[in-house]
Amino acid sequence: TAQEDYKLWLQYYPIENVNLVNTYTSQIKGITAFGESQTIQIAQKELQLGLQSMLSSRINIEKNSDSKGLIVIGSISNLDDNLKQQLASQITSINNEGYIISSTSNNKKLLVITAKTDIGVLYGVYHFLRMIQTNQSIDNLAIIDSPKINVRVLNHWDNLNGSVERGYAGASLWNWQKLPDFIDQRYIDYARANASIGINGTVLNNVNANALILTPLYLEKVKALADAFRPYGIKVYLTARFSAPIEIGKLKTADPYDPAVQQWWKDKASEIYKQIPDFGGFLVKANSEGQPGPQNYGRNHVDGANMLADALAPFGGIVMWRAFVYSEHDADDRAKQAYSEFVPYDGKFRDNVILQVKNGAIDFQPREPFHPMFGAMPKTPLMMEFQITQEYLGFSTHLVYLPKLYQEVLEADTYSKGKGSTVAKIIEGSLDQHKLTGIAGVANIGNDLNWTGHPFAQANWYGFGRLAWNPSLDSETIANEWLRMTFSNNPNFVSPVLKMMLDSREAVVNYMTPLGLHHIMDTGHHYGPGPWVSDLSRPEWNPVYYHKADNNGIGFDRSSTGSNATAQYAPEVAKQYNNVATCPEINLLWFHHLPWDYKLKNGETLWNGLALKYQEGVNQVTTMQTTWEKMKSYVDENRFKEVQMLLHIQQKEAKWWRDACLLYFQQFSGKELPKGVEKPV
Ligand code: GCU
Repeated sequence: TAQEDYKLWLQYYPIENVNLVNTYTSQIKGITAFGESQTIQIAQKELQLGLQSMLSSRINIEKNSDSKGLIVIGSISNLDDNLKQQLASQITSINNEGYIISSTSNNKKLLVITAKTDIGVLYGVYHFLRMIQTNQSIDNLAIIDSPKINVRVLNHWDNLNGSVERGYAGASLWNWQKLPDFIDQRYIDYARANASIGINGTVLNNVNANALILTPLYLEKVKALADAFRPYGIKVYLTARFSAPIEIGKLKTADPYDPAVQQWWKDKASEIYKQIPDFGGFLVKANSEGQPGPQNYGRNHVDGANMLADALAPFGGIVMWRAFVYSEHDADDRAKQAYSEFVPYDGKFRDNVILQVKNGAIDFQPREPFHPMFGAMPKTPLMMEFQITQEYLGFSTHLVYLPKLYQEVLEADTYSKGKGSTVAKIIEGSLDQHKLTGIAGVANIGNDLNWTGHPFAQANWYGFGRLAWNPSLDSETIANEWLRMTFSNNPNFVSPVLKMMLDSREAVVNYMTPLGLHHIMDTGHHYGPGPWVSDLSRPEWNPVYYHKADNNGIGFDRSSTGSNATAQYAPEVAKQYNNVATCPEINLLWFHHLPWDYKLKNGETLWNGLALKYQEGVNQVTTMQTTWEKMKSYVDENRFKEVQMLLHIQQKEAKWWRDACLLYFQQFSGKELPKGVEKPV
């Protein structure tokens, strides 16, 4: 049923294996919760609900922890002295959101889920439920875990009129018209789903912001959402429009040097914090794609960010200042612009400013090398911005498992402090000793019954959360647990579908932008191929700007003979990318313009190799379809059919991509399609 779709990964299906159920029920005799907060009540309710459903038996709530086999939950300060003592040394090794799941060694055989805070306990409860959901053993547990990143936020590109920029799963969840008095159950379910994966913040409105969100009328509504989310550990943030002092404050300017402007933001901050004492802070898109910013007044990013930071600092708020900037006035290579604009300011930002950098230097392509800003600003905290919504990856129509992409970026080695200086270590703050750390995911959530449009797009929301908690997790582990929680633990289902998910990212790269091609989607909406588009007003909006195909070859020369974007990386990385012989072939045409008969590592010419990649992408989608067809008996009818239909579209469109791109590029290569590549019909 559609309801199944709605429940995401919190299905809590009854466990089929009778032996396993017996084992669990012999170990779990009831629940005792210590503490009074709403968060603890939520944790207790969730634990009871999940266990009862999975074990198909009643789980009682006990008043104290005297009897055997109980699950005891509560923050450390609320536990009895005996337990406190037993856990004293472990508790020092977790942070405020971390937790411990520990079996006691005494004859009571209790299972304690504790933390420094009630939110930590809730996270621990979800971890424990996940173990049962994925049928793991709960014998002798000694789990100690803390999130490696502090600010783990979703960015909603939601407009006040209910539309969602680059949203493919219906309209915005936020019903501004009915707020503040009407709290849709969906807000609670949203918070619960996020808490279950450790997301602890949400930016409610689009980066292309409307200043109205900062007016009293809307702040009252924002407060209502903040109140609903708080027990789930989720803080609310807002995108601040830089020109708000003019638009809603009746000032003549938004110049960050103007004392009246500074005062306006200070007053605004205190007005917000009066209503929302734990307000997270502002996200800002300034001087980017027509958004107002400090440069409108001859000031720079530091001036703008620091002004807002000063307004928020007394209340503990932060500024997430986006680095997604590029300008038509410097069109030689868009990929270099953010670095050029920001790196000179390293160390100049206030302590409560964090720069939010997209994973790659262009814009959320199926594959991009990591953004050269990572590793280049050691004195400034940088946070990662991933896109969960599939703007350039087939919207919510194509099945693409994104944690594969995220992992590839997080594992990339920047060499900024020698070998092993991964992007993950930079955003965790461990490489450059930053206390403020963050990661953002542009949400793929809307009011569709299944939240994300494609049933498998739920895995991208899930996977983002899991990686935000721990960027070293393996995307395969995440897919595996998601499948078990969302569909079934049956190995006949899990292993083929796992493979399908893991292969799906490379498939989309192959049928859209193989060998380092990028931004050749049709313009504006970014759906489907458009490598021929060349008539848009700004050069860098045109796909031809990125592939540069001509009779001599194809690709963007970003090496030292071209735009020299490679020089923005640390010397080891720059050297590797710069040399066509050492540049990884997955990024070949990102960094090099090469002749059509250039020899690839497998001996094929570039033209043949490119064509074969497009074909491979199509074949991979066909394999995904074949896999799914065999899964009918493991999946409810609704989701089975949805995925079946969507894969059918994906298959048609993979061919569309292949045919369109190959026919277009063939005009330049002047060569026949190699054997094995289907002729366009
Ligand atoms: C992309 C996207 C825009 C968005 C922008 C951003 O360019 O197409 O819709 O506003 O990114 O991240 O600011």
